[in-house]
Amino acid sequence: MLASRRFSNINRKLPSTLQISQKPVFDNGENRAETLYLKNKNMKLLQVNDLRKYFPIQKGIFQRTVGYVKAVDGISFDVQRGETLGLVGESGCGKTTAGRCLLRLIPATSGSFIFGEEQVDLAKLTHREMQPFRKRIQMIFQDPHASLNPRMTVADIVGEPMRVNRTEKGTALQDRIVELLESVGLRSQDMRRYPHAFSGGQRQRIGIARALALQPELIVADEPVSALDVSVQAQILNLLAELREQFNLSYIFIAHDLSVVEHISDRVAVMYLGKIVEISDAETLYQSPQHPYTEALISAVPLPDPNAQRKREHIRLEGDVPDPSQPPTGCYFHPRCRYATDLCKQETPKLREVTPGVQVACHHSDTLELQGV
Ligand SMILES: Nc1ncnc2c1ncn2[C@@H]1O[C@H](COP(=O)(O)OP(=O)(O)O)[C@@H](O)[C@H]1O
Ligand code: SF4
Ligand SMILES: [Mg+2]
Repeated sequence: MLASRRFSNINRKLPSTLQISQKPVFDNGENRAETLYLKNKNMKLLQVNDLRKYFPIQKGIFQRTVGYVKAVDGISFDVQRGETLGLVGESGCGKTTAGRCLLRLIPATSGSFIFGEEQVDLAKLTHREMQPFRKRIQMIFQDPHASLNPRMTVADIVGEPMRVNRTEKGTALQDRIVELLESVGLRSQDMRRYPHAFSGGQRQRIGIARALALQPELIVADEPVSALDVSVQAQILNLLAELREQFNLSYIFIAHDLSVVEHISDRVAVMYLGKIVEISDAETLYQSPQHPYTEALISAVPLPDPNAQRKREHIRLEGDVPDPSQPPTGCYFHPRCRYATDLCKQETPKLREVTPGVQVACHHSDTLELQGV
């Protein structure tokens, strides 16, 4: 049962020309579905180009637009199949807005999001055309308490997407709910209970089961462990990592600090005031950050060795993220950057590739020697 579901999953993810039967056809026992899938694993699942979201600021009785909150101001990145991209930055940097635009929960001001083998630009689809793609991209929310309807049983919550989309009904629906609950570490008898009967970690498991219900390919997880006790955070992170392997998922994993995404991310994009300031593979980013903002975020990641932790410098970021309707001149980070020069106050640095796969937006990244973990 699970194996056939896995095959159908793989098939759904392959271009139609590569779809294959459920029988292994290689004499040497190699599974053709897996082989084809792996060959295609490096395909881009999502490519975001120059995404912008400007919220108008309206004043007076005529609601005249007097300015814009540039919550997301021209970000570009891609996500490969099976990959986790960490999207990190302090509160107010535009992470949630970016995620909501990708799911078309709010309209983007401009930009394109090319999705799937079909290479469809989701930003251009009508509401009706978007419908089939909604199944394929799901979101997990920060606060499992607020995102679960307290008057619905767990079975209703987890079953709702399948009922609405008419993918399962009757006993098949019940079986699928049990299967989903078990895959997130809950029990079948939990079906009849209400969200208030569960701990924060268990509620997040219910939210994850609901997100998995329609067999998505991409999950945008918006700070999924921020509201949980530290002891429970690791369990949920481990669960998400396991599910990624089991169901060949890709994640955009949003967090406000770098410690949460350290072990789950393949690549990390660091956002500051609506822009990506650094993007690179996770190991390089943590070991040798190129942007002073990344360095400051890394200095807050606790080290396992207490001696090393005592000796390392914690870089205090003074003040808050500035108001995106009135960003600073030049480099947006300059009022809080300890390496800022006059050039930084005048000119906005462009995001540029410094080594293959590593992009950074800092005038002085070539000469700075920044501290990693
Ligand atoms: N609906 C909205 N109207 C106006 N401004 C908004 C709206 N939603 C978010 N913002 C602003 O956009 C900026 C980015 O917010 P958000 O995406 O929630 O950041 P993050 O998730 O990184 O904390 C913030 O300054 C926030 O106040
Ligand atoms: S451009 Fe200047 S202010 Fe901006 S991060 Fe680099 S050194 Fe700091
Ligand atoms: Mg947020």
